[in-house]
Amino acid sequence: MFTPIRTARLVLRPVTMADLDDVYAYQRRPDVCRWMLGNEPRTLAESRESVSLMTREDGLRAEGDVLTLSAETGGRVAGTVELVWRSETDRDAEIGFVFNPEFAGRGLATEAVTALLRWGFEEFGLHRVHGRCHAGNEASARLMARVGMRCEARHVESYLFRGQWADRLVFALLNREWRSAARGAEG
Ligand SMILES: CC(C)(COP(=O)(O)OP(=O)(O)OC[C@H]1O[C@@H](n2cnc3c(N)ncnc32)[C@H](O)[C@@H]1OP(=O)(O)O)[C@@H](O)C(=O)NCCC(=O)NCCS
Repeated sequence: MFTPIRTARLVLRPVTMADLDDVYAYQRRPDVCRWMLGNEPRTLAESRESVSLMTREDGLRAEGDVLTLSAETGGRVAGTVELVWRSETDRDAEIGFVFNPEFAGRGLATEAVTALLRWGFEEFGLHRVHGRCHAGNEASARLMARVGMRCEARHVESYLFRGQWADRLVFALLNREWRSAARGAEG
């Protein structure tokens, strides 16, 4: 059982089917899917399937597992954050996030991602967390930079995005960088 993470404004906890209405409220929006490969605005039935899948992503037990957490505030799910355990040997995971634009611009995604990084490094013992986004996804790139992740690569025309070659940015943060930033913040 994953113990929920509490931050100043959020509770991060595993997804339940009761989250369906809140998740569908943003999965149905074209602006939310704009930069996400393979994601088109979802029907309610598609969201139900997606939420059902996320309810099973409740812990990192083996390489390849996904941990998806609902970021709840004031009784509503503002978005989800996830960690995909890419390599057990390299202790490397990939971070992901999707938030409802209704909740944008208040730093809630930043708060959720920071809390998940803390869990990944300090509780789970990761060596490295990386994140990838379409080079045009400025909000995503800004978020990763804001939480202290380094932009360490731009893979030029590295993948087909809706029929066009697209650049992908890779951001990353190491455990030692996280800890030294945390020490700096403590003064
Ligand atoms: C990526 C995504 C989560 C970013 O959302 P966001 O609203 O920009 O992020 P936050 O909630 O952290 O808010 C940050 C903004 O609030 C502002 N802000 C206000 N109070 C803040 C606080 N206490 N802390 C941090 N930022 C704060 C920041 O300045 C920032 O504004 P800016 O973007 O104009 O610089 C969102 O755009 C999204 O879900 N996009 C669709 C899905 C997607 O593309 N996911 C990524 C796939 S790779």
